[in-house]
Amino acid sequence: MQKMKLFWLSCLLSLTAAAAPKKSVPPGFVTTRGTEFELDGSPFAFVGANSYWLPLLTSLDDVESTFQQMSLQGVKVFRTWGFNAINGSELAGALESNLTYYQVWNNGDWTLNEGPQGLERLDNVLHLASKYDIRVILTFTNNWQGMELYVDHITPGASFHDVFYTDPNMIASYQRYVKTIVNRYKSSSTIFAWELMNEARCLGDLPASPACVPGSGTLAKWYKEQSDFVRSLDPFHMITTGGEGHFYWKDPAFASDYNFNGQAGEDFDFDLTLPNLDFAVYHMYPQTWYPQLDFPGSNFSIEAWGLEWIDYHAAAATKAGKPLLLEEFGLLGPSFYAENKTTIYPSWVNRALETNHAILPWQFGALGLSESGGNRLIKYADALIDGASPNDGERKFVPFARLIG
Ligand SMILES: *[C@@H]1O[C@H](CO)[C@@H](O)[C@H](O)[C@H]1NC(C)=O
Ligand SMILES: *[C@@H]1O[C@H](CO)[C@@H](O)[C@H](O)[C@H]1NC(C)=O
Ligand SMILES: *[C@@H]1O[C@H](CO)[C@@H](O)[C@H](O)[C@H]1NC(C)=O
Ligand SMILES: *[C@@H]1O[C@H](CO)[C@@H](O)[C@H](O)[C@H]1NC(C)=O
Repeated sequence: MQKMKLFWLSCLLSLTAAAAPKKSVPPGFVTTRGTEFELDGSPFAFVGANSYWLPLLTSLDDVESTFQQMSLQGVKVFRTWGFNAINGSELAGALESNLTYYQVWNNGDWTLNEGPQGLERLDNVLHLASKYDIRVILTFTNNWQGMELYVDHITPGASFHDVFYTDPNMIASYQRYVKTIVNRYKSSSTIFAWELMNEARCLGDLPASPACVPGSGTLAKWYKEQSDFVRSLDPFHMITTGGEGHFYWKDPAFASDYNFNGQAGEDFDFDLTLPNLDFAVYHMYPQTWYPQLDFPGSNFSIEAWGLEWIDYHAAAATKAGKPLLLEEFGLLGPSFYAENKTTIYPSWVNRALETNHAILPWQFGALGLSESGGNRLIKYADALIDGASPNDGERKFVPFARLIG
């Protein structure tokens, strides 16, 4: 039912949207038309999944069986990390544990690993994605334990996270990596879109400086510069931020709310106007964002908050005339929160589908993985346990079939 509804909504919107002049892309490349995604001239509506752990697997059979499961469940787009970096002191351990790594940092610079523990693994993931007709969103770095490696190595002893967005050496180093990844895969229609950074914020493991504050436009400037850079390398693939979708609203009612007051760094409405950001993305984790309000008996409703967050983003994307993807969401559980996740997920998903979204829950879970007998540490604390993919802390597997079905 949801799919039919989405389909008819798509038809209506493509009739009414002003036919924006759009560069024509090669056959098989997904592109945008107004507020829709489009593939070979037809609307492309989808439900997909996240899986940061897939390129960390060492067994091609396990990667393939995961794509088989995704395909059976109707996944058409999947999002994963296009980065995995270590520093030189971790190399010996990485070799011993068969860890996947693409960059090794030493003395302020990184070297690329294109070998069997390196980009060959990402090549394999993209190859198998293509076999199952699943397209891939690749993210170039991460606000959490990703860009901090650039900061630590290029400006040792830095006290602020946001130096990443403004230091010319940092930008050059990031762009050198982006160029490596884009040039490697830019002819492939399996790439759905490039993503500049997962969850860019003014702060990360380090705090934000006084130069990254509401109104400074630090992130918007970085988004513009990097999306223009990617576009200069690749005229055809879509580009998006990877951000959480924070707003910068001046309404005093939101003045103390981190998701709305611009303090995080993003300005969702403005960022959407940048010419080389092709569609909008945002994330949704109300429990972790409002821990002080979320306790049994609280008057804070996780469900209602999520529905509003969905509506606000839908309105902004409609205004900007660009497609919209709710690209991460999830609930912790079970037991210590007042509301029941089996009712909240369908409520959120229905609202997202009714308001013309594509959606990617966090995250896809696989069972029956066989490598190393089904038990292996794949990165730091993330492990395969009895054949199950990493559980990402307390965030349990999304009941995926139910979301799509
Ligand atoms: C390491 O991973 C590769 C696949 O990338 C695999 O062929 C090899 O057997 C693995 N080595 C060990 C010691 O598990
Ligand atoms: C290397 O990485 C580890 C683990 O992420 C970190 O604790 C350490 O500080 C890093 N070393 C340098 C020189 O950045
Ligand atoms: C909900 O609870 C908070 C404190 O926990 C209180 O400040 C607020 O006024 C309450 N809102 C309503 C509508 O009862
Ligand atoms: C949660 O919802 C399910 C389905 O509606 C219901 O069967 C279950 O009893 C609910 N659990 C709680 C703790 O309310």
